[in-house]
Amino acid sequence: MTDYLDVKTDFADTSVVSAIDESSLWSARFARLLLDELELQRDIRILDLGCGAGFPLFELAHVHGPNCTFVGIDIWPLAIARAAMKLRVHALSNVHLAVADAAHLPLRTASIDLVVSNLGVNNFADPPLAFAECARVTKPGGRLALTTNLTGHFAEFYDVFCATLLATNLADRISTLDAHIAHRGSVESLAKAFEHARFEVERAVEDRFEMRYLDGSAMLRHQLTRFGFIDSWRKIVGPDHERIVFAELERRLNERARRENGLRLTVPMLYLEGRRV
Ligand SMILES: C[S@@+](CC[C@H](N)C(=O)[O-])C[C@H]1O[C@@H](n2cnc3c(N)ncnc32)[C@H](O)[C@@H]1O
Repeated sequence: MTDYLDVKTDFADTSVVSAIDESSLWSARFARLLLDELELQRDIRILDLGCGAGFPLFELAHVHGPNCTFVGIDIWPLAIARAAMKLRVHALSNVHLAVADAAHLPLRTASIDLVVSNLGVNNFADPPLAFAECARVTKPGGRLALTTNLTGHFAEFYDVFCATLLATNLADRISTLDAHIAHRGSVESLAKAFEHARFEVERAVEDRFEMRYLDGSAMLRHQLTRFGFIDSWRKIVGPDHERIVFAELERRLNERARRENGLRLTVPMLYLEGRRV
């Protein structure tokens, strides 16, 4: 059964942004790392890049208090519209929101003390351009702090995915799969991106957690899989073969879950902080 391939997620649908906003346990694990590691400072101007529907922007605004000012920017108009609605309830008059592409930030040069990005910049279409814009808008001596998942994310799943492609005579897709796995970046490659954008790395804190599922059937139908991952996995396989491949993938994931008493997928994560030189 590959029924989950029939459920299309339409990101231009307001009820989709609403449901995604209500299910941020995934984002929360990264934001917890950010909130644990970030030094809180007085009287600063903070940009949350890729703030989505206001998380962790509003939490950052609450923990910093009223003497700091905030800008939340996201390319997704519906998410910013929802954030604006919630902003009224949060009564945070020091938070401003804008729909914009990180590649062209509507902010003055050297106007920001701290850029934060929870699962943001490194996921954008053109990270080098976004890092360059972060450097432009950050004051000399200002900070960039991001959290991200690293290469090694869902390694157990990708092992099964790779074996499935081989078993379904799609060895020619392995290089696409490898490129997809590598796109997440390592501590070294992200530190290099910081240095390239003239942020001197001052802190790198690694952590990890496990996503636990009863089996592959649960995992493939989970909302995080549908909202965040399945479209890119389908692209690796291609439309002509996806029903056969995903049916076999589900079977193999379920077999693994039976052997190992559940499906556990590792998520390595990173908090990286740099200072604008
Ligand atoms: C994985 S979500 C993270 C959202 C939020 N920070 C959180 O922790 O839940 C990535 C966000 O980046 C936004 N995004 C993607 N490309 C962007 C770009 N080029 N410029 C600004 N935001 C972008 C998406 O719309 C999405 O809201």
